[in-house]
Amino acid sequence: MSDTARPDRIAVLVSGRGSNLQAILDAIEAGSLPAQIVGVFSDKPAAAALQRVEPALRWSASPKDYASREEFDLALGDAIEAAQPDWVVCAGYLRILCDAFVERFRGKLLNIHPSLLPKYPGLRTHARAIADGEAEHGASVHFVIPELDAGTVIAQARVPVRAGDDADALAARVLEVEHPLLIGVLRLAVSGRLAEQGTTTTIDGHGLFTPLLLDSAGALRAPGADSPI
Ligand code: GRF
Repeated sequence: MSDTARPDRIAVLVSGRGSNLQAILDAIEAGSLPAQIVGVFSDKPAAAALQRVEPALRWSASPKDYASREEFDLALGDAIEAAQPDWVVCAGYLRILCDAFVERFRGKLLNIHPSLLPKYPGLRTHARAIADGEAEHGASVHFVIPELDAGTVIAQARVPVRAGDDADALAARVLEVEHPLLIGVLRLAVSGRLAEQGTTTTIDGHGLFTPLLLDSAGALRAPGADSPI
């Protein structure tokens, strides 16, 4: 998928504020992520995230202007395909993607989710983790498959849940680790090291059976490994 002659092309799907999109833009600008953003796509025309890129890179539409979920996802998919991305990253995209969309971009479709999957798929993850008395919470980056938040987890970042945390405080702590987590996975992706082969996720051609972890220095490593991957 990666063509070494040019930086990988990344499409980003957003619904809201876009801090993860900003982390990608900053990493590209800093030279730590050899990639280019080829489009930012939203189901919310007023999403603040869209303002983070130049108008030519923005695409948005309201699902209510389409007859069905499938028709909206078809239009979204056509717009994304026209941008010819190597990777399609859901970074705070809050709408469930229909199966046909997922199949269309299968193998290049990544999502960042604010929980330690398989715990807490879906919404309100922070409040649910607190209500359950979890000692740890975090974020996961995974390949997207038709089942919601159920694709292979590539990497995770963990944070403690502290006494007195409310959902906002915990969300802020998780968001801090989301950004380096997402960039770490995208660095693997754009360097051609990450792939989804059938139902197996591989890194450097080897099956990944346990998620990588974000270490305290902001690097990804296999659990228990001496050095970053
Ligand atoms: C993040 O917590 C992400 O994991 C979740 O939605 C939030 C989006 O934040 N899916 P932002 O729009 O990237 O700031």
